[in-house]
Amino acid sequence: MVIPIKTSDDIAKMRVAGMLAAEVLEIIESHVQPGVSTGELDRICHRYITKKQQAVSASLGYHGFPKSVCISVNEVVCHGIPSDEKKLKEGDIINIDVTVIKNGFYGDTSKMFIVGKSSILGERLCRVTKESLYLAIRMVRPGIRLRTLGKAIQEFVEARNFSVVREYCGHGIGVGFHEEPQVLHYDADDGCVVLQPGMALTIEPMVNAGDYRIRAMKDGWTVKTKDRSLSAQYEHTIVVTQDGCEIMTLRSDDSLPAVIHHPT
Ligand code: CO
Repeated sequence: MVIPIKTSDDIAKMRVAGMLAAEVLEIIESHVQPGVSTGELDRICHRYITKKQQAVSASLGYHGFPKSVCISVNEVVCHGIPSDEKKLKEGDIINIDVTVIKNGFYGDTSKMFIVGKSSILGERLCRVTKESLYLAIRMVRPGIRLRTLGKAIQEFVEARNFSVVREYCGHGIGVGFHEEPQVLHYDADDGCVVLQPGMALTIEPMVNAGDYRIRAMKDGWTVKTKDRSLSAQYEHTIVVTQDGCEIMTLRSDDSLPAVIHHPT
């Protein structure tokens, strides 16, 4: 397995791509309202990415994916296809997953939005999922095993009686959408990957309120929880630094610093 090490020039470009992806999640927030369709949200994101940012949506056309962002509502775990028929209602929890390409580099990020007033369970699931991502990001530093992050996410989530989806993982990222390594969000053999400065990856735990198992729908994309329980996901693109990490896709609503240091 060859894990690309980014140069400082690469990282500067990843910072731009990451910032643009994060910005899409910031501008879409005010449009996430009861009654709006996920198709309309996709069009707003598409226009913003192509016209305002002069960037490219990596999702559009990716293995035939028909839209510019993935929008996954309630029991949809990931890869929900935006549509004009799917209108949001009060209490829905939705994930919008944005990946943009700018100057040849990818930025990949997603977050949960709560439509109107949330259910207690929906709010708790979103909060625990975000906290599990933050917990892993705070652990990132040179010398740590990737497996240690996955184990920490799984233990944190399961202690709160939720479960971690197994089939999807984070990934290396840079000039490719999905580079080495795979970033598992549970404790499993990771090929002994040890993080080093210059590695860039996404961490993107998918957390279910019920059982961890999932089921793929006939459209070839949409993935739902097998037991139809709610599912949530948060994702950031990060780069490992000399003493911690830098978050490429930080938003104003994140409660983490852009650069995390672990002085020795
Ligand atoms: Co990703």
